[in-house]
Amino acid sequence: MIRNILLDCDPGIDDVLAILFALNEPEINLLGISIVAGNARVDDGVRNALSVLELIDREDIPVVQGASQPFSGRLITSALVHGENGLANIQLPRPRMSPVSMNSSDFLNEKLNEFSGDVDLVATGPLTNVARLLKKHPDSLRHVNRLIIMGGAIDVPGNITPFAEYNFFADVIAADACIRTEVPTILVPLDVTTSFLFTSKDLQEVLGKKTKINNFIERLIKFYIGFERRFYHLDGCFLHDPLAIAAASDVSLFETKAEKLHVNTVHPLTRGALFRRKSVVKTIDTCFRVKKDVFLKRFKKSLMNY
Ligand code: BDR
Ligand code: CA
Repeated sequence: MIRNILLDCDPGIDDVLAILFALNEPEINLLGISIVAGNARVDDGVRNALSVLELIDREDIPVVQGASQPFSGRLITSALVHGENGLANIQLPRPRMSPVSMNSSDFLNEKLNEFSGDVDLVATGPLTNVARLLKKHPDSLRHVNRLIIMGGAIDVPGNITPFAEYNFFADVIAADACIRTEVPTILVPLDVTTSFLFTSKDLQEVLGKKTKINNFIERLIKFYIGFERRFYHLDGCFLHDPLAIAAASDVSLFETKAEKLHVNTVHPLTRGALFRRKSVVKTIDTCFRVKKDVFLKRFKKSLMNY
């Protein structure tokens, strides 16, 4: 079954890996990409997405610029993890393409109307753009088949504070608005994304011929693994955002549980943390385990096809 998806992201190394994966995943039809400030400033994120699409000859995918600042707090970029430019400090040629000249809410609303009922919205960055869409076009929700969110940490520690995951922490007000919507939601939290590593050995397996694209993938992933090695002595990196694409493509790869979740927007110590709360009405299909070998096989195959 082909899934139409809109990807809202903050590229970001693993966001770029999610784009590369989505574009070679047979079950996914990527309709467009909206960019939010997060791992990188929003203009860097737009440039990264456009440059990568040009590198792989996919200029047909529209990119739109979204929010430059979160609803709450100030922007926290992740230069240590993703590089100063969000792209492992790799300087790809300046893109010839331009972003769509619309704001991201109108762009997403237009696409959702066009593909009404047959489109998933996948968010792999802070949830500012999605929350802005809900505010400006509340009716657009009716057209979303599933909202798939990479974010949150439930039974595992956070990765930006001991309790909070980065995407949720980076804009708690937006995260809160998004997990409370009526749209059927699938959550891909750190609980599942940190359950295995993509290792240096995995990387060697996907690098075949010495092409421009392979060289780019190699530098990108080596930088990402370099961060985990320096700070956590790990020989691999986490595939947070590609796992959100996998959930869109085939949710049966995951073991999910219906959870009633609440995000803390107030208490400074646990800001951005997710808690189970019985009084919450909505249940969220939360991914806790993944068939790692099946996922990795698909992910590697998609990278090898470049
Ligand atoms: C999330 O934060 C970012 O660093 C990654 O791109 C991912 O979306 C993981 O916490
Ligand atoms: Ca991301």
